[in-house]
Amino acid sequence: MNRNRPMTQNYELYTREDLRVWRTLFERQEQLLLLHGSTTYLNAIDKVGFNADAIPNFTEVNTLLQPLTGWQLTVVPGLVEPKDFFGLLADKIFPATCWLRTWAELDYIEEPDMFHDVFGHVPLLADANYARFMQAFGAMALQWIDDEEIINLLSRLYWFTVEFGMIKEQDEVKVYGAGIISSPGEAMHSVAANTERLLFNVAEILTIPYRTDVMQDRYFIIDCFSQLYNALPEVAAIINNFKEQTISFQKPLVS
Ligand SMILES: [Fe+2]
Repeated sequence: MNRNRPMTQNYELYTREDLRVWRTLFERQEQLLLLHGSTTYLNAIDKVGFNADAIPNFTEVNTLLQPLTGWQLTVVPGLVEPKDFFGLLADKIFPATCWLRTWAELDYIEEPDMFHDVFGHVPLLADANYARFMQAFGAMALQWIDDEEIINLLSRLYWFTVEFGMIKEQDEVKVYGAGIISSPGEAMHSVAANTERLLFNVAEILTIPYRTDVMQDRYFIIDCFSQLYNALPEVAAIINNFKEQTISFQKPLVS
């Protein structure tokens, strides 16, 4: 199913190679995540029914996910326009691709495939605190959708949490961001001894431009998933100050 970008999941069209890719990626990440993955994420894998032996069926996942937090998956062919993306999040709908990278692309793919979108993003949507943040974040971003500067700031928050966030669990730092969860290289890099890991700080995160084409320079650690939702009033206050020009985000670019 990887030569086109389907709008619906035709499960019978998955090939043996697709299943081999899914199984290999799943088993490889499972080994890493048993050591470094958030316990909340690991428990959620079972809640949404993911395993190495079957490519997730969106209909079945929705049957499991919807009663837990009200979230649903919908198929998209690829990256979604910001207005559509945030609108879907506000409605508790996560847009995900249903095609898989080829065997030749196992270790590197330029655009997010199903392994990133589904394995990386979906399990935590079964967690009430994470799910509540995602919905509220989407609603907040939708309010500012015509303001490119503000959407840029909010994208930084999404990047350093939903994509590359880390969490402290029982005095250990674990990974939960989908960009780490779905990538063996990023997972190892994020926990390496010389990698910069900072305490979650909204005011700081909103000042940091990010790059999508390299491993991250730094990661931010939350104490618990409710911290994300509870940070949104501070985000709103910073945005309002920014609009009133009482603070500046014209710091030099990090990269
Ligand atoms: Fe992602």
